Amino acid sequence: MTNAKSMLITGGAGFIGCHAATHYAERGWRVTVFDDLSRRGSDINWDHLQRHGDVRCVRGDVRQPGDLDRAFVKTGGVDAVLHLAAQVAVTTSVTDPRHDFEVNALGTFNVLEAVRRHAPGAGFVYASTNKVYGGLEHHDVIERDGRYDFAALPNGVSEAEPLDFHSPYGCSKGAADQYVRDYSRIYGLRSFVVRQSCIYGTRQFGVEDQGWVAWFTIASVLGLPTSIYGDGKQVRDLLWVEDLLGLYDLCLERGRPGSIYNAGGGPANRASVLQVLAELEHQLGRPVPRTFDDWRPGDQRVFYSDNQKAADELGWAPRTGVADGMAQLFAWVNEHATAIARARAA
Ligand SMILES: NC(=O)c1ccc[n+]([C@@H]2O[C@H](COP(=O)([O-])OP(=O)(O)OC[C@H]3O[C@@H](n4cnc5c(N)ncnc54)[C@H](O)[C@@H]3O)[C@@H](O)[C@H]2O)c1
Repeated sequence: MTNAKSMLITGGAGFIGCHAATHYAERGWRVTVFDDLSRRGSDINWDHLQRHGDVRCVRGDVRQPGDLDRAFVKTGGVDAVLHLAAQVAVTTSVTDPRHDFEVNALGTFNVLEAVRRHAPGAGFVYASTNKVYGGLEHHDVIERDGRYDFAALPNGVSEAEPLDFHSPYGCSKGAADQYVRDYSRIYGLRSFVVRQSCIYGTRQFGVEDQGWVAWFTIASVLGLPTSIYGDGKQVRDLLWVEDLLGLYDLCLERGRPGSIYNAGGGPANRASVLQVLAELEHQLGRPVPRTFDDWRPGDQRVFYSDNQKAADELGWAPRTGVADGMAQLFAWVNEHATAIARARAA
């Protein structure tokens, strides 16, 4: 037994979770990942983590309190929890809202209760989403330089924006977001809510419904059809996964419990869908064929995050520019194209 601090990561075989597991293991934490492997491709990350040696993998479902109890007992003396397990696709939440609710809202409640039972002093980071701000229809949108922008919100959307849950996914993640905050007020948990924009990076098995930057990269490398919903001028801010982990570090090290932070690439790292495709064409050296389809319900024309609160309180800022991140993602997809194609076919 070492004196190393111990961390439990729910959803640890997912994209962000897998990065977090190796990030913290490399910094001397004893890491346990907890995952039901329901996400396609998460078994590949699971194998990767098991080969890593320093990471323990426990299979379980956040909907089952007994599974969580077993994981906390196995991990022993948990000092920090990253709660990342989720049903992550808006489209799936519309077709099966009960499943979405059970995993995201009830699952988060179960994790919070397990923390209260087993590790009430642990730091707790919850991966929330900018979807809690809804469609932002009250902000005027203009077209500028071939992409959408807010008419009068130059720094982007801040935490002061009213909550307006839109879609079952928005509701279940938003309910969980508020539970995590309130468990700090009512039960004194050391919890943090991080409202994430579009996170991108390696080890993301993006599909059309979720993880669009990874999906476009995979589709362009594998030569799969690429559909754009809307006109492609919609804008998102892209945050490289390692930069997000930097914010998790700071929350755990010196955040004020109960805090909520927006975390996105911010104004400097925003890109339209068409710009991301152009960057991919630059990497590939050939055109990426695409078709256009109707807008999807609830799709914002523009979203980018105002990161000032995390900057002021924790000194955090994104470091990785879009071109640099896209080049790293492209190289990873190229190198792992066969495994990615196999995971898609499974
Ligand atoms: N990736 C993004 O751009 C982004 C943006 C905003 C918020 N988020 C949030 O960040 C978190 C991680 O996202 P990600 O991109 O790594 O997603 P992901 O799908 O790659 O990872 C989620 C993991 O949770 C696991 N899981 C699903 N249901 C489970 C259950 N019932 N019990 C246990 N494990 C379960 C899946 O198998 C998967 O490995 C999620 O909570 C997501 O809502 C992600």
